[in-house]
Amino acid sequence: MMSRGAVSRTVAGSAAFLVSMLATAPAHAADGAALFSANCAACHQPGGVGSAGLAPPLVSRHIAAAAAKNQLYVPLVILNGLSGQLALDDGTSIASLMPPIGLYLSDEELAALVGYIFALNGAEVALDPKTISDLRPKPHGAKELRAVRESLLP
Ligand code: HEC
Repeated sequence: MMSRGAVSRTVAGSAAFLVSMLATAPAHAADGAALFSANCAACHQPGGVGSAGLAPPLVSRHIAAAAAKNQLYVPLVILNGLSGQLALDDGTSIASLMPPIGLYLSDEELAALVGYIFALNGAEVALDPKTISDLRPKPHGAKELRAVRESLLP
């Protein structure tokens, strides 16, 4: 049987362990690449190259244009999901469905993910997590999002 002293030493040891873990965790722990592998790559494939019929490439003229002109398009798609026909760069199109996966991710995680997707397109963009939280109460239907997408390219 453990003595009282042994129990309190164990508790103190666990507390010290937790404090050391917190001290080593980086201030902005959300890792866009890791979040992409865990939540998006099953459909969009590693590196966001897409998969015919399953999910569009995320390295594309539309996403590059979003980085330059309307960055909110990307977090809005992740928060609301998307469906309906989308024209792709290679002249084909996709008509499938993306679920609103962003509902299960935090503002910090979404900001990191969006930064990662824009980086795949060669653009350096840092979205404030507050921008993401402002989007949450404003649902966007697929039709509205497709209109935003179409406005991205001339
Ligand atoms: C279940 C498969 C699936 C998962 C998981 C998924 N997506 Fe999608 N995504 C799609 C499909 C399908 C579309 C196109 C929907 C359509 O045809 O209208 C799409 C569209 C998009 C678009 C718009 C692309 C464009 O050209 O306008 C973005 C941006 C996007 N997804 C990002 C993500 C991110 C980031 C994640 C992870 C958080 C993710 N998706 C997870 C299937 C998925």
